[in-house]
Amino acid sequence: MKIAIIGSGYVGLVAAGCFAELEHEVVCVDRDEAKLARLSRGECPIHEEFLPELLKDYVGNRLRFTADLPAAVAASEVVFIAVGTPGSDSGEADLTSVESVAREVARGINDYKVIVEKSTVPVCTAQRLATILEQGGAPRGRFDVVSNPEFLREGSAVCDFLFPDRIVIGSSSARASDKLRAVYAPLTSGAYSMRADAIPAPDGAPLPPPLIQTSTRSAELLKHAANAYLAMRVSFINAVANLCESVGASVEEVCAGLGADSRIGPEFLQPGIGYGGACFPKDLAAFHAVARECGYDFALLDEVKRINEMQRERFLGKVREALWTIKGKRLAVLGLAFKGGTDDIRESPAIFVVEQLLAEGATVVAYDPAAMPRAREVFTELEYAEDAYEAADGADGLLILTDWEEFAALELARLRRALRYPIVVDGRNLFSPERMAEEGFFYHSIGRPQPRAQRALKLRKAS
Ligand code: UDX
Repeated sequence: MKIAIIGSGYVGLVAAGCFAELEHEVVCVDRDEAKLARLSRGECPIHEEFLPELLKDYVGNRLRFTADLPAAVAASEVVFIAVGTPGSDSGEADLTSVESVAREVARGINDYKVIVEKSTVPVCTAQRLATILEQGGAPRGRFDVVSNPEFLREGSAVCDFLFPDRIVIGSSSARASDKLRAVYAPLTSGAYSMRADAIPAPDGAPLPPPLIQTSTRSAELLKHAANAYLAMRVSFINAVANLCESVGASVEEVCAGLGADSRIGPEFLQPGIGYGGACFPKDLAAFHAVARECGYDFALLDEVKRINEMQRERFLGKVREALWTIKGKRLAVLGLAFKGGTDDIRESPAIFVVEQLLAEGATVVAYDPAAMPRAREVFTELEYAEDAYEAADGADGLLILTDWEEFAALELARLRRALRYPIVVDGRNLFSPERMAEEGFFYHSIGRPQPRAQRALKLRKAS
């Protein structure tokens, strides 16, 4: 199948690499010439597992990059629009890029095309797109607009794309649906997962994934609803964690009991310093705005956001509690990305925490396995370390802000020796409080009782 992808951001680039992996012929369009040059050399601009390999394998053969949007559309049967839909001040999604892309797409419609919304857009956008295409001179019978929302997570985007929980096709046209079914056939038939050179399927992935056919509007709506629901779960468990702290219960034990209920399930019940990233905050606001426009006050979403913002403040409260005064202290920070496995710092709660600590007069020395190049572009007042131990060296305390696996594997004795004072405030619950106490740390985490640092106490008694 000949496929055009408009936009080479997270969604567009991952889709481009994965469709090439599924043996389609893909052209990816972007207007950023410098980025196109890098991509055409096979360089991967984002930290994403398996993506560099896909680009290396397919750029120059099944995958090419261009700035010529109408030509890419003219040469393709299916066109995925995957440009950004940033939030505006009022919360609504800013669809300027979607609209301007659609105007250019219209110029390339020389034959029947399926135009696919891949970006997260408000309900009824497909209808708008169809109007724009018609205004641009594309005859109504020459195209259909379909919603095919993407559910990939940063950090595991390639696996999420190739081994999705489900594929949603929102369309009222049988012709367009058939084309999209053909695009995804290597996944829905199970053929891809059986290929000897396939990327290995993650544990628990449904093989083959179900394909859910809906109306266009339902598909648009369910994407916003999915992200809002997941954000709600994170805020819910953070609120429960706060309650656990008040009564001395353990949120981990509560989650084990909660997640074992098949109606609830164990996913997205990890308490922390709140959700961030390019999707949840923006999509929650956009969903709220959509509801408002439809005359429904979705006040629940306000509360989800409020709890999320409060969570970062509570974490800062823990830091102040653990360190007493902040001004003049040297603080080691592990993690700047909004979650582990990505170099993305957009709307990262870690960045919020760091900014507050800097404003309160602390010196911050940070380490992140992937996000430091991006952080360096915006934060000149931070010190950056080569690894976690260097960050901890001589610090008055250590804060864990991102759930990177490599942090959980740190050598604790070495970390303790590096720190000036063995204080750890863990915003991601990466360690067991008992073990940290054993190792002599004054350890603070989220929603769990805090045992006293045993070795420190023993040492003090011995002296
Ligand atoms: C999300 C959706 O999961 C994905 O389906 C959609 O396509 C894009 O938005 P992503 O932004 O990559 O993906 O991150 P995700 O893994 O969903 O995590 C979002 C935020 O919630 C992160 O800040 C993460 O740290 C936080 N989180 C997640 C928790 O605090 N606890 C959890 O249990 C899960």
